[in-house]
Parts: sequence; structure tokens; C-alpha cells
Amino acid sequence: MRRKIVAGNWKMNGSTDLVENLVGYVRSEVSSLDNGVEAVIIPPALYVRDVKSLAGDRISVGVQNVACWESGAYTGEVSAVMAKDCGCHYALVGHSERRQLFAETDATVADKVAQLMSQGLNAIVCVGETLAEREAGQAEEIVSAQVRKGLAGVSGDGWQNIVVAYEPVWAIGTGKTATSDDAQAMHRSIRKVLEDMGAPAEEISLLYGGSVKADNAAALFAEPDIDGGLIGGASLVAKDFVSICQAMPAGSES
Ligand code: PGA
Repeated sequence: MRRKIVAGNWKMNGSTDLVENLVGYVRSEVSSLDNGVEAVIIPPALYVRDVKSLAGDRISVGVQNVACWESGAYTGEVSAVMAKDCGCHYALVGHSERRQLFAETDATVADKVAQLMSQGLNAIVCVGETLAEREAGQAEEIVSAQVRKGLAGVSGDGWQNIVVAYEPVWAIGTGKTATSDDAQAMHRSIRKVLEDMGAPAEEISLLYGGSVKADNAAALFAEPDIDGGLIGGASLVAKDFVSICQAMPAGSES
């Protein structure tokens, strides 16, 4: 069964104050929801343990990035082993900011996915086209290639730990969201690519990200192939994040 996930990517934002003010509130509000949503908070790595201790069992915690290596002389890096050790269940991989600002490639993404698979952690693998690529009619081709290359090393039970987040680069932090129809069409196409790769495509959760807010989440989540959201800006405001969690329709499977 596909998991219904709302994940909050804090990016390089937050503080001990935000952790204290937001996590307890989200926990108590989300605990009373019966729509089956899994809320995930993904703070900067320094705050993972604090979030984890306030989050309880009802909220999962993740990291925004992991290293391509297991351990060793890689100053500044955080490993999948450490993420697991600190109680994380999720990690983002290949966020467009990592691709654009830190030169991550599909090969890097594949290495990071392999690290996460070796620890049994869930990888939220981010894919998405730029505005120029969309305008050139290449969106599907670009996203398909990112999925194929980033997930090339996954097989067998590993697929159970894969979540794909479609985040059109032009929609991130811009206030522009893909229409529900366009997002659904891309999600359908991603599912087809996964099927072609031999993955149990109908079981894999596909999240939409890019300016998801309290007022557009319900329409996106109502689409049959959109199983949740990856939320940036709105995840820093406790009430907004909770509203997005509430926007998930009830029901066993989308
Ligand atoms: P946004 O960010 O919701 O602020 O657009 C989404 C993301 O980058 O994951």
C-alpha cells in the first residue's frame, strides 16, 4: 500500500526556538488526524536529535542530505549510518538546490541512494525540470532520465524504501505551483518509468513539491498519482504544515 506522506523540508532555516515551538504543536495536531497521513520533519542535521525527542512516534524525522560514503575523512559530511543512529527514517536525495548549488549529478544521487539502502532508510529522491526545459517541451524526458539514473541501483526489497518527489524547479519557493493536472500527468509518467524499471510502481509513493500551501494542497492530493507533498516554506509555519497534513484525503490508498 502506498504511504501518504507530508514531509517538511526546513532547508537551512530553523533554530532551537522553532524546534520547541513547532514540533510539539504539530505532534499534538497530527496525532488526532485519522486520514493516515505520515508527517515527516526534515530539519538541518544539527536539530535532528531535538526534533526526534519532541516528535514521538507519530512524526518521522529525516535529514536533507547524506554523504556518498559510509565513514571516513570527509570533513563536513553526514553519513546514512549516522542518520540512522540518530533515529532518522528518511533522507532527501538530489534536491534541486543540491543539484544546482552543490553540483550533484544523477550519479551522486545513485551513490547516496545506495548508502541509504544499505541502512534500510527511506530515500525521498527529488526530480524536476527547470523552466527552460519545460518551455522546450523536455520536462518528461528530463524527469524520466533523473528517475532512471538516480534509481539505477535499486532492486528487490530496496524499492520499499523509495519515495520519489517531483519538484519542478520553477515552482520551488516561487509561489508558482504546477496545476494539479500537470502534476498528475508527470506523476503518471514517473510511475510508468518505475514500472519499466521493474519496480512495484503502484506501491511507490510519489510526492509533489513546489509552493505547496494550505490552500492548494487538497487539490493536488486529490489526484490519483499524487500521494503527498514535499513542503518547503510552509513547513516552517506550524499551523500551515498541519493544515497541509489535514488536506490529505482519508482512504486506504490514493
Ligand atoms: P517550497 O519548497 O515549498 O518553499 O516551494 C519545496 C522544496 O524545495 O522542497
